Amino acid sequence: MPLRREPIVAAGESIRQNVPTGFLQNWADGGGIGAAPFGRRLRNLRLQMGLSQKQLARSSTLSVRAIRDLENGRVRQPRADSLRLLADALGLSAPQMNRLANDHALGFLAGTAEPAGSGPFIGREQELAALTTMFGAEHHRLVTIIGIEGVGKTRLALEVARALEAAEHWTALWLPPDDGQLRSGRALVGAPGQPTWLREVVHSGPDSRRRLVETIGGSNALLVLDGARPEDELVDITAHLLAACPRLRILVTTRNPGGMPLDTLFPLAPLPVPPSDTEPADLDKVASVALLLAQTKRIQPAFRPDPHVLADVARICRALDGLPAALESAAHWSLIYSLRELAHQIATEPLTVARRPHGGHRQPDAYASVHDTVAALSSRQRDLLATMSHGSSGEMDGYWSVPGVADKMGLTAAECADDIYHLLILGILRRVDHHDVAMFRVLNIVSVAGQNAAA
Ligand SMILES: Nc1ncnc2c1ncn2[C@@H]1O[C@H](COP(=O)(O)OP(=O)(O)O)[C@@H](O)[C@H]1O
Ligand SMILES: [Mg+2]
Repeated sequence: MPLRREPIVAAGESIRQNVPTGFLQNWADGGGIGAAPFGRRLRNLRLQMGLSQKQLARSSTLSVRAIRDLENGRVRQPRADSLRLLADALGLSAPQMNRLANDHALGFLAGTAEPAGSGPFIGREQELAALTTMFGAEHHRLVTIIGIEGVGKTRLALEVARALEAAEHWTALWLPPDDGQLRSGRALVGAPGQPTWLREVVHSGPDSRRRLVETIGGSNALLVLDGARPEDELVDITAHLLAACPRLRILVTTRNPGGMPLDTLFPLAPLPVPPSDTEPADLDKVASVALLLAQTKRIQPAFRPDPHVLADVARICRALDGLPAALESAAHWSLIYSLRELAHQIATEPLTVARRPHGGHRQPDAYASVHDTVAALSSRQRDLLATMSHGSSGEMDGYWSVPGVADKMGLTAAECADDIYHLLILGILRRVDHHDVAMFRVLNIVSVAGQNAAA
């Protein structure tokens, strides 16, 4: 227990009134969105420990001047050896030290992890509960969320990480290998403050991995590998990390299951869409409708849907397959088209509404990844997709049972089941159960993108 011989706050320093008492596990500026600069985090930690600058200097063997320069921002980042001395003096664990060291390195990377402009998190209660329970119960240490572009994989991973950070005081480490520049092997630029070694873990050698292992150690941590591809060859990396860090869990998000163990897959379907006979009063309880309404209100605060408009909203949701990203784009288009106009246009041209208006947005080529997914299918799977995109095998429009497709294609039910399984895992089919029979339908976006790809 250090003797407190001098005031811990030097003359002229202001004390933050709300220094959290919850101590280091979740100190307020410890790395959440909008984390404070290094100097402020250091100062907060020191104050929480009840140490003066002089006392910290003494126990860390740094000079008072060095600590003052760090705290007031004259020196923005300490050297690695100084950081180690500070961490020892403050009794920080490795993840805590990393939080102190890297502005946004651990915890969420403001502006990269969280998609800009996202609104409230809607629906997905069951998915969120399932994933947090799976990780919490220790039975699952590696889970792979798989689904098509824009279905909400990154957002769900973000919410899982947040929930575990809030309820279980875990540390979340966010590693988006899904980065064009990383992919193309050019200079690694990205999240400000994110150390290169963290991004390199997936792509470079044992050194970066060793540092990650040291960082995580025996702590409860969730590593999110967001946007993985088969060529990242994550199986070895994840196995190594899980073996080396006994309380680590890993959440991967991907559009392609290649390379990930089958028993880790968590297929993510689009949000539910309202059946055509839904009562107008019940429409906004359907997640896709709620999302489109929330996004439209965000963009046009005066927007108040009457029952007619609600019916258009429902049509748009169905046409856009309940895909969150596509619904967000539709909300943007609602600035220049009425929802009625959008509902009409979408019936014939869903992709024009599913992509964002140009307005400076970086990615006008919506659902290009769906072309790639379709292009990577076997020719039998593509035939099957084409068959299923047209008509249906029975009373439900657009929906097919496995035997129905098998009949039509002249395949055995087993062959057909394999292909449908694959398409479902990729997220390009939607399943509904009708009179206790599983029925499948190709997402509209996929039919259209598939036709474009074939053209
Ligand atoms: N359940 C949800 N509630 C609200 N917004 C969502 C939901 N799921 C996804 N979104 C939003 O939709 C967009 C696309 O989601 P994202 O997670 O980036 O998709 P993916 O990673 O599967 O390509 C993002 O802006 C995201 O915030
Ligand atoms: Mg994503």
